Amino acid sequence: MLKESVEDALNEQINAELYSSYVYLSMAAYYEGEGLPGFASWMRSQSDEEHEHAMRLYEFVHDRDGRVTLSGIDSPPTEWSSPADAFETAYEHEVEITEMIDDLVALAREANDNATENMLQWFVAEQVEEEATAQAILDKLKHVGDDGPGLLMIDQELGQRGSEGADDEAEVGELGE
Ligand code: FEO
Repeated sequence: MLKESVEDALNEQINAELYSSYVYLSMAAYYEGEGLPGFASWMRSQSDEEHEHAMRLYEFVHDRDGRVTLSGIDSPPTEWSSPADAFETAYEHEVEITEMIDDLVALAREANDNATENMLQWFVAEQVEEEATAQAILDKLKHVGDDGPGLLMIDQELGQRGSEGADDEAEVGELGE
């Protein structure tokens, strides 16, 4: 049985993960518009992965005899000034999500809720990957700038993730490990 404070916080996290999914889908649409199908494909896979994160929490809440209550999802940004700018947003977003997960762990500890704390350790590890992957791609983008063959090479590499499917966590071809 979940304590109300933990249940509320998990529901907030479900909303945050669904918002993440929405942000990455919006980025996919931006990259489509920029003529960068590899970036777009990578972002669509990332969007799918965020939905899976939400569902992981959804199932946990139900397993603990809690109640999932869905709330409105904020509008995501829709425009970025450059391909690198969008990845900067992605990186900063993941840093914020990491902070939310850390706060959730602290709350679970305070509530002496070992099961929730244990479940959240998966997210703790996942956030290390999420930040590292976004940072690695952002670093590459900063090196090549926003134009030219380097950008198209990164686009090709990122496109490999789309062909491998959304289950390949943090797989970005040669990028992100
Ligand atoms: Fe589910 Fe990217 O954090």
